Amino acid sequence: MPDNIIPIDKLLDQVGNLPPMPRVVEKALQIIQDPNSNMKDLASVIKLDQAMTSLILRWVNSGYYSLRNKMVTIEQAVAYLGQRTVQNLVLSASVASFMNRPSPGYGLEKGDLWKRSIGMAAGARLIMKEIAPDKAEDAYYAGLFCDIGKLVFDVLIQSSPLGKEAQDKPFDEAESDLFGYDHAVIGAAIVRRWNLPNHLARVVECHHVPSHVEEPLRPLAYSVHAADAVMMMFGVGMGVDAMQYNLDPMTVEVLKWNDNSLETFYDRVMPLLQEADSFLQ
Ligand SMILES: [Fe+2]
Repeated sequence: MPDNIIPIDKLLDQVGNLPPMPRVVEKALQIIQDPNSNMKDLASVIKLDQAMTSLILRWVNSGYYSLRNKMVTIEQAVAYLGQRTVQNLVLSASVASFMNRPSPGYGLEKGDLWKRSIGMAAGARLIMKEIAPDKAEDAYYAGLFCDIGKLVFDVLIQSSPLGKEAQDKPFDEAESDLFGYDHAVIGAAIVRRWNLPNHLARVVECHHVPSHVEEPLRPLAYSVHAADAVMMMFGVGMGVDAMQYNLDPMTVEVLKWNDNSLETFYDRVMPLLQEADSFLQ
């Protein structure tokens, strides 16, 4: 443990290069969580952001949906895609805008962190769909934000020997040794700064140690933890922390997995990753 631990808030202020949660996302999330809102409200918020509008129109008119008549308004697109898909697109696109860059401190190339995050998000959602479908979207968001703390540390570790240290021990341990906390703790602080629900912050905080989370959040935390491990196992978006992952021994039991789960899981996540990739391009 380092002698002078910098308080998390101070550290986040110091780094200062992490973009704030885009206004459109913050507003869109408020609308989605408001039971009295409707699709029209959502469309009118998205319309305020030119980049988001064109991205959603591009997506709905992409080969993925094979529409005979192209859609030209955001209202049409939102009505067609449905609230959940639009919600995912808005969040994924905004996260992509800063997660798509390289993280040299972790040995990650451009796009690696984004791919890994989308894999965790899509993977955790797949897992939760089977055991608690009403929590599937929460799993997606938690997965998406899990490693966002790496962006903060990346700035700090480029001038430190963390890369070398991480070769001998799990990366989160090396982070804690150097800074006093790991990227999961920093990630949770960012999620809280963005005013996202606290249960998401807790899952992000515990994604390496899912047994530490409160009982009701346990399946959610284990779903993200398992998706993270699988991404690493199959080499998705890996850097210097490759192959250093402590899988919690309770994972299989909490998620009710069997011998085939791992293999079928990978086969089902890969198309989602490819889909996300084409969405970015
Ligand atoms: Fe992580």
